[in-house]
Amino acid sequence: MTAVDQRLTRDAFIAGEWRAARSGRRFASIDPSTGEHFADVAEGGPEDIDEAVRSAAAAFPGWRARKPLERGRILLKLAERIDAETEMLAELETRDSGKPTATALADVRGTARYFEYYGAMADKLQGETIPLGDDYVSYTRHEPFGVVGVIIPWNGPIQQAARSVAPALMTGNAVVAKPAEQTPLSCLELARLAFECGVPAGAFNAVPGFGEVAGAALVEHPLVSKVAFTGSVETGRLVASVAAQRLIPVTLELGGKSPHIIFADADLEAAAKGAWLGINVNAGQVCSAGSRLFVHRTVHDEVVARLTQLNSTLTIGPGAADCFMGPLVSAEHKQKVDFYLALAAEEGATVHVGGRPAADLPPGSYTRPVLLTGVSNDMRVAREEIFGPVLVIIPFETEDEVVALANDSEFGLAAGLWTSDVSRAHRVAAQLQAGQVYINEYWAGGVETPFGGVKNSGYGREKGVAGALDYTYLKTVTLRLLPQPPTSTAHSLEPPTPTSHLPEPPTPTAHPSAHSELDS
Ligand code: NAI
Ligand code: MG
Repeated sequence: MTAVDQRLTRDAFIAGEWRAARSGRRFASIDPSTGEHFADVAEGGPEDIDEAVRSAAAAFPGWRARKPLERGRILLKLAERIDAETEMLAELETRDSGKPTATALADVRGTARYFEYYGAMADKLQGETIPLGDDYVSYTRHEPFGVVGVIIPWNGPIQQAARSVAPALMTGNAVVAKPAEQTPLSCLELARLAFECGVPAGAFNAVPGFGEVAGAALVEHPLVSKVAFTGSVETGRLVASVAAQRLIPVTLELGGKSPHIIFADADLEAAAKGAWLGINVNAGQVCSAGSRLFVHRTVHDEVVARLTQLNSTLTIGPGAADCFMGPLVSAEHKQKVDFYLALAAEEGATVHVGGRPAADLPPGSYTRPVLLTGVSNDMRVAREEIFGPVLVIIPFETEDEVVALANDSEFGLAAGLWTSDVSRAHRVAAQLQAGQVYINEYWAGGVETPFGGVKNSGYGREKGVAGALDYTYLKTVTLRLLPQPPTSTAHSLEPPTPTSHLPEPPTPTAHPSAHSELDS
């Protein structure tokens, strides 16, 4: 499939239909397994973003007015449809991102699960009543913001789209999603399927394009009232500063250099396998990858030997082949990973290269799994996000020492630890600066468990109930009850005339509320 006429072409999905970019331009989507230019995708610009945002703003009031149960049923139908289309979606994802079919299938199942989970939550997001005494009724409502801009990276394109789009739609928002330029295709299909399952035209638009143009236009658009961004720290800062100027809320899921700790009392076989998966799944292109491994000095050599053994079995090949690891997402990204491998040697680390590349590897952006030993936590390879299958290994002696080392990072996304001591597990979990801590299973949890960072890993939460609430603002409604009108004829069958028995309405100053405070 190299001839131009065999290439896929894809437009933006706006207001329930496919639309070419106003500029007429398209950009190439490359299959990183082969280097092949296999699709031409509409290059959305500010005009296309504007159309999409306006169609979302127009769809919002109707979608918001639907009963939560109805919105939920539509999302549940979408979950079933995604399940039915799993193979097609996974194939597209593999082609666009290079991820192995098994990983893509898992990602698509996760995508369906987001719509199932949030679809089933639609009629359960309850507010609270606040006790002000019998003279008042006070309650809270979870209100949608309006148009939510979702900016998606390339490492888990379809499931990262679903992670934001499902709760945003469930709570009554309308969405404009901007997929990453490396992997635009699956998000476009998701928008189409959503429309076919009953999400109204305009409630979920997907506009592919470049970050500095289409992404920036989305964040700057005056009708966008909340942004969910997943990607690099650098771009996250840009997005957050535009959002700060506009005073709109933003969820930032940024990078990590997540510590993964193996104590001497751990089940070493399980721990080594967990550490190995934690860095090699999706070729290490995972924001929460366990990329800094701290191993107790007494078991360090055994763990390194186990990891070396696991790496020697790790197969590398095209996404569609039955290998554990596919290529990195792009040639540019491979340059970044290669830079860090060269840097590791310069910094004095020992570089152990593993993996079994397929014999007939096509010219894609492949890399190999790497262990780095002889590393100290102040080396750049231990501090900066590599986003590849490169595991830094650092020995430690004491619990206090490893907690300090783990927290000595600009990031705070995830952390993992392995121990058979329950008290230690909770003691250490409490001290780690991370949005999530996994004990005796890296990435334990799922769609139900809130996910997000602290420090340079960002703020706000996705997943779980907390993730849904981040797509809403809290409205408090407080009502003062009027006193019962005096009745002159106790048993009168005459209906009271509407106005005659009403007492004078209290003037606001005459009856100041005991509870009122002047909030500024
Ligand atoms: P990026 O942060 O530039 O791209 C992520 C998304 O943001 C893409 O959709 C992109 O089009 C968009 N974007 C770029 N510039 C924008 C702007 N000015 N305004 C609005 N949107 C914009 O990340 P990139 O360059 O693809 O990867 C660089 C590094 O970031 C990776 O090597 C990795 O370390 C990290 N990263 C982290 C991810 C995570 O899951 N937290 C995901 C992807 C990358
Ligand atoms: Mg691609």
